[in-house]
Amino acid sequence: MKKIIICLFLISAFIGSQSVAQNFKEKYRPQFHFTPKANWMNDPNGMVYHNGIYHLFYQYYPDDKIWGPMHWGHATSKDMFTWKEQPIALFPDSLGYIFSGSAVLDVNNTSGFGKDGKAPLVAIFTLHDPVQEKQNTGKHETQGIAYSLDDGKTWMKYKANPVLQNPGISDFRDPKVRWFEPQKKWIMTLATKDRITFYSSPDLKSWTSESNFGADAGAHGGVWECPDLFPIMHNGKQVWVLVVNINPGGPNKGSAGQYFLGDFDGKTFTAYSKKTKWLDFGTDNYAAVTFSNTGNRNILVGWMSNWQYANQVPTDPWRSANTIPRELGLKTVNQEIFLTSIPVKELDVLNTTSFDLKNVKIKDKLDLTEKTKNKTGLFRLDFDLKNAGDFSVVLANKEGNELIVGYDKKANQYYIDRTKSGKTDFEKGFAEKHIAPRISIDANMSISIIADVASVELFADNGLTAMTDIFFPESIMSELYIKSTTGITIDKLKYTVLKASME
Ligand code: FRU
Repeated sequence: MKKIIICLFLISAFIGSQSVAQNFKEKYRPQFHFTPKANWMNDPNGMVYHNGIYHLFYQYYPDDKIWGPMHWGHATSKDMFTWKEQPIALFPDSLGYIFSGSAVLDVNNTSGFGKDGKAPLVAIFTLHDPVQEKQNTGKHETQGIAYSLDDGKTWMKYKANPVLQNPGISDFRDPKVRWFEPQKKWIMTLATKDRITFYSSPDLKSWTSESNFGADAGAHGGVWECPDLFPIMHNGKQVWVLVVNINPGGPNKGSAGQYFLGDFDGKTFTAYSKKTKWLDFGTDNYAAVTFSNTGNRNILVGWMSNWQYANQVPTDPWRSANTIPRELGLKTVNQEIFLTSIPVKELDVLNTTSFDLKNVKIKDKLDLTEKTKNKTGLFRLDFDLKNAGDFSVVLANKEGNELIVGYDKKANQYYIDRTKSGKTDFEKGFAEKHIAPRISIDANMSISIIADVASVELFADNGLTAMTDIFFPESIMSELYIKSTTGITIDKLKYTVLKASME
C-alpha cells in the first residue's frame, strides 16, 4: 500500500512539474516579449523606474492558466527586454483581489512611509471584493495602497486600507497616480464605469474628488478601464494625454486603448476634441499605460492580448505576453495633434546580424527568405518608400501559414491579416483581417515591423499608426516576402535579426 502511495505521489509530482515545466522554448513562447514562466497574466501594473531598474508588476493568477484571484506578479529589468521574474509582490487579502493600479516613488515622503531618509515606493491599486460583488452592492471596488522600503522587493499593505471608498459605482478601478508639481499634490486618474474621475491627495492616503471627464466623449462600446494621464511637450507647449482603455468596443472589436489630448489644471481635464483617437489599431494592445519616474520619457507597455480570447489562446504553461515598450510623442497632421508610438531605443540590445538594401524595385514579389536565413523568426524590418504604394509583407512557414502586414493605397489603410496564420480555431473571431487608417499625409512612408514568435507590431509613419496582433503559427515563420501588385520602389530597407532575451 505504502509503495502504491509513494508511486502515486511520484507520478503526480512528475505530472505537476510537467505542466509547469518551462524552458522558454515552448511552442508559441515569445522570445523577447515579457511572459510569466507559468500561469495567467493580464494588465501591466505599477510600472516604475527606480535606481536604474525597470519594475514591472502585472495582474497574475499563480494557480492556473485562466483568470482567477488576482495577485501582483513582479519582474525587473535593466533594459526593458531582459526580464527577471521576482517573487509575487501583492497577494489578495480580506479586502479583496489585487486589481490593476500604479506605483510611484514618493520622493518627498508625503505618505510618511519613508524611513531613515529613504523614499518609499508606493503602490496604489484596486481592491476587488468578490464576496461583496456577489451581493450586488455596487461598492465592491475600493482603492488601497502598499509601500516598499527595499526598492520594490517586499511590500507592506497600509493598515488603514482602503484609502478610497466606493460611492456606489460598480466599475471603480485601476488608479494611475502621478505627482502634480505646480500644486504639489498627487493626482489619481480612476476609471469609473463610463468616465474618468480625477482625485487629488497631499499624502496618497486621503483623496478628494476633483472632476470627471468622458461621459459624453469618446468610444463607449464597453466599460472604461486602466486610464493614464501625463503631459508631453509639443512645440513649446504642454499637451496632456489622457489614455482610456475600453473593453469591448475597440476599432477591430474587443479590447483596445483610446486617448484624448487636452489641458489639465490640477482639477479638470479639458479635451481639445471629444472624438476618440486610437492608441493602437491591432487587437492585442490592451490596458496599456506608462512607466512612472522616467523623467521626460513616456514609455508605454500594454498587455498583448484581448479579453475576447485571452483565456483561450493555445499557449502552455502560461498565458499572455506584454507588448514591447514604446516611446510616445506627438505630431501635428493637418492642424490636428496625434500621439505617436515607436519602439524604445533599448530595443537595439536585441540586434544581431543585419543587412541593408537600397533602391529595390518590387513588381509582384521580393523573396527575402534566402537572404534572411532566419531560423528563429525574430526580426525587425524597417523600410522607406518615396511614394506610398500597395505592399504586403508576408511572414510564412513551410506549413503554408501566413501572417500579412500591408498597406492598401486605395483605401488608405494599413492592415494585419491573420486569417491563415496557423492555429485560429480556439475562438470564432480570431481569424480576421484588422485595418487601420493611415494618418500621415506625407507622400513618403516609413515602416517598422517587429516580429517575435507569436506576435507582430507595426509602427507606420514614425508611429502615427500602430498595430499589434498576436498569432499562433504551426512552426516558426522563417520565410519572408514583400509583395506589391501595383509595384513599389523601396528606397532603403534594413533587416535585423533580433535575439531572444527571455530565457
Ligand atoms: C483590465 C482589467 C482591469 C482590472 C483587471 C482585473 O484588463 O479588467 O480593469 O483591474 O483587468 O484583472
